[in-house]
Amino acid sequence: MEWGLRNRLSRIIRPTTGHTVMLAVDHGYFLGPTRRLEVPRKTIEPLIPYADALMITRGVVRTSIDPRTNVPIVLRVSGGASVLNEDLSHEAVTTSMKDAVRINASAVAMSIFVGAPHEHDSLVNLGELVNLGEEHSMPVLAVTAVGKELEKRDARYLSLACRMAAEFGAHFVKTYYCDPGFDKVVESCPVPVVVAGGPKLETAADVLELTHASIGAGAAGVDMGRNIWQSDDPVGMIRAVRSIVHEGATAKEALGDLKGGKGKR
Ligand code: 5RP
Repeated sequence: MEWGLRNRLSRIIRPTTGHTVMLAVDHGYFLGPTRRLEVPRKTIEPLIPYADALMITRGVVRTSIDPRTNVPIVLRVSGGASVLNEDLSHEAVTTSMKDAVRINASAVAMSIFVGAPHEHDSLVNLGELVNLGEEHSMPVLAVTAVGKELEKRDARYLSLACRMAAEFGAHFVKTYYCDPGFDKVVESCPVPVVVAGGPKLETAADVLELTHASIGAGAAGVDMGRNIWQSDDPVGMIRAVRSIVHEGATAKEALGDLKGGKGKR
């Protein structure tokens, strides 16, 4: 891997632990003002000290993040369909590589929609984004299994989608956890896999168990949104997640810290 590309990627996946806690706040690009992300700055600012990277759109970077903040940006560069549309897979690359470089992004991210009506376009777009990424030493994160494909997120489907993303040249892949078989998903994907949290889970214990199981199965980390900032204690939750991802805490230990008030870790 080229030096600049490795350097950018190592800003996101910490070389000291080989893991990452990315904070996903890009939801507005198709969901609008999602609950608890209505005023992005208010939600995001307190969490920045605990995030290894922010997954975010250029609009929210420019309006809601202090440019003096030294948090790596994983820039969501795809879009084109809203939640009102039956078919969420009709996306294109909407933010240029030039703009990503201007923002000083550490990576760019786009969704692919394997098995959906616009599968072909999303895959071709991924190939083109990787071509540009290689030219600019910009890592590409492929996001798989969003939208209707969520219904099919068993190990077989996720292995297919993640592997295809890696074969197209994505430098890391974001997908959902599944049980059984997530270890096989990770094993058959030759680039690092980060796990999305998905819609808010019922309890904090569920979130921490998901995190622990993902890391145990070989994931490089999480790229989590709603289960952090929709929780009653977002800072406590991201700290608890960090303790699992970076310090090897069990879900129980992390939950104990969370309940005991603001992670000792
Ligand atoms: C949407 C995304 C989101 O960033 C992703 O869903 C992660 O957030 P959450 O943990 O809330 O699911 O990529 O396309």
